[in-house]
Amino acid sequence: MESSVSAESQSTPIQHHSRSYQTYPGAQYILPSDEDERARLELQHRVLQRAIGPRLVIPTLSLQPGDQVLDCGTGSGVWLMDLSKQVTSDVSLFGIDIEPRLFPMSTAQIVFSVGSATELPAHWSNKFRLVNQRLLIAALSVKEWPRVLQEIHRTLVPGGWVQLLEAKRWGAENGDLSTKHRQMLEKLFASRNLLIDCSVQLPRLLDDAGFKNIHVEERKLPAGSWAGPEGEETRDNFIGVFRGMKTPVLNAGGLGYVQSEQEYDEWMNGLAREWDAIEGTTVDICICYAQKSM
Ligand SMILES: C[S@@+](CC[C@H](N)C(=O)[O-])C[C@H]1O[C@@H](n2cnc3c(N)ncnc32)[C@H](O)[C@@H]1O
Repeated sequence: MESSVSAESQSTPIQHHSRSYQTYPGAQYILPSDEDERARLELQHRVLQRAIGPRLVIPTLSLQPGDQVLDCGTGSGVWLMDLSKQVTSDVSLFGIDIEPRLFPMSTAQIVFSVGSATELPAHWSNKFRLVNQRLLIAALSVKEWPRVLQEIHRTLVPGGWVQLLEAKRWGAENGDLSTKHRQMLEKLFASRNLLIDCSVQLPRLLDDAGFKNIHVEERKLPAGSWAGPEGEETRDNFIGVFRGMKTPVLNAGGLGYVQSEQEYDEWMNGLAREWDAIEGTTVDICICYAQKSM
């Protein structure tokens, strides 16, 4: 485990109603894993796929009988379950996550297992034709990102592809609450050595891990009621992410931004209203995909 002086070890925690969080040894992941989070992950999948289009597999790649696919940090397995409807039953699907609470039942085609992306099973070398990894921004530290990409590289077959989706920027450009919120998130992420600007660093990290054929795509997702019902869904999903970070923030004594649970909740409500009010508010995502050499 990396040595970090956690803000939580320095401040007096603020009492609040806590949700359920993962307890995997050494993991810094700051979002909950409960039924509300499962519902949010389903919503998030819809919001993201609407932005990307119908493509679940981003690189130009047609999965063949016998191919194997891994979803790293699979959560509720929503991406894999969707993929299973688009491929024949002789394509094998695997999901791995540090927290099994949201796993669906494994089936003959889809196998879920507990483990960290930082140390994939040794017997998975040269196995997968495609590895998908989506939204581990709030999970992986500065030191873990290179390690995870090396692990993905190891587990791909020669010529196989990795596809990564990460959040890049979010909130109202000139909104006071959004600005204050970005500053608080930077402090929270820094206290755990999490890489808040991972999306910017991914092309270089992929190159360092030995990947070729590196592609980057970006999408801006309109967020807030000014953008209609779809903007409201995007808002609800991402403000839902920030609501889920309440316990890490309050356990760290509020990080100098809030002094009570009520203040935190009201801040998130205000943030949502600010996104509604400021036309042009977006959440920007980055999609990177790259290939292991033949
Ligand atoms: C924001 S959720 C995204 C879930 C899924 N990828 C999706 O897009 O629906 C992040 C997931 O990464 C998992 N996670 C966090 N750290 C991890 C690690 N070191 N290895 C594997 N999974 C991890 C969390 O438990 C959580 O399920």
